[in-house]
Amino acid sequence: MTSIIELENTQIINAVFFILLAFASMFLILVLFFYFSRKKIVQIEVDKKMLEIEHQKELLESVIVTQEEERQRIAQDLHDDISSKLNVVSINTHLLRTPNLTVEETNEITSNIINYTQNALENSRRIAHNLLPPVLEKFGFNAGIEELVEEYNSTKKVKVVLKNELVFDKAKFQKHLHIFRILQELLNNSIKHGKATEVSIQFTNLDDEKVCIYKDNGKGFDVDKTSNHKGLGMRNIESRISFIGGAYSIDSTPNEGVKVIFNFK
Ligand SMILES: Nc1ncnc2c1ncn2[C@@H]1O[C@H](COP(=O)(O)OP(=O)(O)OP(=O)(O)O)[C@@H](O)[C@H]1O
Ligand SMILES: [Mg+2]
Repeated sequence: MTSIIELENTQIINAVFFILLAFASMFLILVLFFYFSRKKIVQIEVDKKMLEIEHQKELLESVIVTQEEERQRIAQDLHDDISSKLNVVSINTHLLRTPNLTVEETNEITSNIINYTQNALENSRRIAHNLLPPVLEKFGFNAGIEELVEEYNSTKKVKVVLKNELVFDKAKFQKHLHIFRILQELLNNSIKHGKATEVSIQFTNLDDEKVCIYKDNGKGFDVDKTSNHKGLGMRNIESRISFIGGAYSIDSTPNEGVKVIFNFK
């Protein structure tokens, strides 16, 4: 009788021991599971942050490269279109000092001076206009963007339709300059790469956000193809959009035009 009770006790102790062991192992498995999945999540987060940092670095690089290219272009414009003309003016002015010039010679030299001065003046206006369209600074974004659209429409190569439902505060000129440059680049690309004949630009409010919806009817392109990320234009657009506190999406498939949407604060 005693030995049967002892046997049962031993079985109960064994059963309790195995149950405890099973719980302990399950606990250990759970702890290990959480530890490793947490580690994996942290690793994914780190990888994501690294990618973001890499991307920011690329954007910064493209800003610097663009700045340098812009300086080179301005230097070249000044050299070719202003300095060379002023040089001719200077030579002609010195020629006026030549003794015993005939009336015809004097007239020819004088009209050279007038022509080249006029030329240099027009070129300097054009260079300044490219750097900062005066209408934008004087009359604000609405007038600036209308002038830009008009310039493109006057080429007759493309029909640009602008629909603006927003009010642009003149005080936020710097921000609007970014939007202006973004549209300049988008229009350039639509004509240069897409050979588009129609473009529509719409500024509107969407879910309480100010957005710009840009569409062209050109050749379009494969947005995911890495070779299409080599230019500076799209990267500059991206950094300008991040400057104005917005985000953008670009949608295009070959032969179906391009649609770009970006918002801004
Ligand atoms: N509207 C568009 N239609 C067709 N292809 C486009 C359009 N916009 C961009 N692309 C394609 O995307 C590429 C990248 O454009 P991006 O503006 O960044 O560079 P790019 O115009 O080639 O050079 P950059 O702007 O530096 O002078 C272009 O080379 C072109 O293949
Ligand atoms: Mg471009």
